Amino acid sequence: MSVIHGVFILWITMILLVLVHNLETVEGRHHSHKKGKKNQHPSPSYNAPPTVPSDPGNSPSDCNVFDVRSFGAAGDGCSDDTGAFREAWRAACEVESGVVLAPQDYIFMITSTIFSGPCKPGLVFQVDGTLMAPDGPENRPEEDKRNQWLVFYKLDHMILNGTGIIQGNGEQWWDLPCKPHRSPEGEPVSGPCDSPAMIRFFMSSNLVVAGLKIQNSPQFHVKFDGCEGVLINEVSLYSPKLSPNTDGIHLGNTRDVGIYNTIISNGDDCISIGPGCSNVEIDGVTCGPSHGISIGSLGVHNSQACVSNITVMNTKIRESDNGIRIKTWQGGTGSVTGLRFEKIEMENVRNCIIIDQYYCLSKGQGCLNQTSGVHVNDVSYRNIKGTYDVRTPPIHFACSDTVACTNITMSDVELMPHEGHLLDDPFCWNAYGVQETMTIPPLDCLRQGQPDTLIELSQYECN
Ligand SMILES: *[C@@H]1O[C@H](CO)[C@@H](O)[C@H](O)[C@H]1NC(C)=O
Ligand SMILES: *[C@@H]1O[C@H](CO)[C@@H](O)[C@H](O)[C@H]1NC(C)=O
Ligand SMILES: *[C@@H]1O[C@H](CO)[C@@H](O)[C@H](O)[C@H]1NC(C)=O
Ligand SMILES: *[C@@H]1O[C@H](CO)[C@@H](O)[C@H](O)[C@H]1NC(C)=O
Repeated sequence: MSVIHGVFILWITMILLVLVHNLETVEGRHHSHKKGKKNQHPSPSYNAPPTVPSDPGNSPSDCNVFDVRSFGAAGDGCSDDTGAFREAWRAACEVESGVVLAPQDYIFMITSTIFSGPCKPGLVFQVDGTLMAPDGPENRPEEDKRNQWLVFYKLDHMILNGTGIIQGNGEQWWDLPCKPHRSPEGEPVSGPCDSPAMIRFFMSSNLVVAGLKIQNSPQFHVKFDGCEGVLINEVSLYSPKLSPNTDGIHLGNTRDVGIYNTIISNGDDCISIGPGCSNVEIDGVTCGPSHGISIGSLGVHNSQACVSNITVMNTKIRESDNGIRIKTWQGGTGSVTGLRFEKIEMENVRNCIIIDQYYCLSKGQGCLNQTSGVHVNDVSYRNIKGTYDVRTPPIHFACSDTVACTNITMSDVELMPHEGHLLDDPFCWNAYGVQETMTIPPLDCLRQGQPDTLIELSQYECN
């Protein structure tokens, strides 16, 4: 009995010793990691094995995988790893289905970079760790472009994905004295104000952005200019509610786009769609806090704007300054047509449904009414339900004097006050369309049929 007892005690003691030893090792490792951070030896021979094995499918031994650490990246959160990323990109660009890998458990700091093509097809830029921008304007190299950080240029069939985080460190940019919220009178203090868009795709086609968390952008989070064929899936974008100009996803001159299963909360438009966009489908997106989903602004400086075939469905917008908005300047030409908003849930949203054809930034001069405007035509709102913030009417159609909005369809639109009572009835000016069911709150101001004075539509046609 006592012998067994003794053996048992001995056994327990040994287990405890082993445990204590392990704990110390973990602590030790932790400390040395921290020390490594402080001392910053960017020795290229630093080859610590990753603590967690990567997926077998993309183990670093695959010959088309270019792990940035093999190109000298330290991944310690403070060394400048830009050179290593550029080298890894160059190598991956040369092979078919090359992968630039930023592995997990490392934090890579890189400065503004243009990753340009053309590259062999199937290029993947995979961020499983953290990719970080310099902290604010002060830590940015003088020679860096002030208006962009990561740029992907002239690529075809490229994927940006991973399980990691892309961190923009935007706080100090938002607080620049020139930003709108910094001035008490609403007139920004003058001074250099450009802040970098975090990720910009330019003149590229067949792009996929998937899986990543993209946070705290100094300005727009992800921006597409002149692109064709874009798929965004399961991405999450986050910046605080009061961060200025931090649009989530912006499209300009871009067509054939799908944005799916994505969560966006930020300080400006959740998704904004500018001139020259067509064939965009947004499905399963959650926005808020934000400024909602916005088509525009269009027609600035008397320009022609063409936007067509945009569908937004199965989407939730919460705690936002606008829900679904179309904004155009006075004096533009062109048209925005073929918009379908379907099955959208609102929660405490101001201006749930809004068309503003008098959009203008500063209230003073330059905002005068003009004799032309972008033609808004063929817009349907179906199954739009939920609650609005009573400070503004939930439905607001302010169409141009000269160019009426035409063919607006309302069906199953039911919006209730989130708290309190509706102060103003829905507003319409020069808006024409049909209500297939009774709109709640009642929308008596929407005119039926077509406007009497048919405008000369040729200048509003887009091809
Ligand atoms: C990224 O895309 C590549 C190519 O499709 C795929 O092999 C890889 O598993 C993806 N990685 C993640 C984390 O989704
Ligand atoms: C409208 O866009 C969708 C993609 O969102 C596309 O599948 C469809 O073909 C487009 N329709 C037209 C008429 O171009
Ligand atoms: C422009 O026209 C609208 C609608 O007729 C009117 O409410 C507004 O006061 C006008 N604005 C200016 C600056 O004339
Ligand atoms: C509005 O819709 C009707 C019926 O679908 C169509 O006949 C008419 O051409 C449309 N008007 C415009 C300006 O597109």
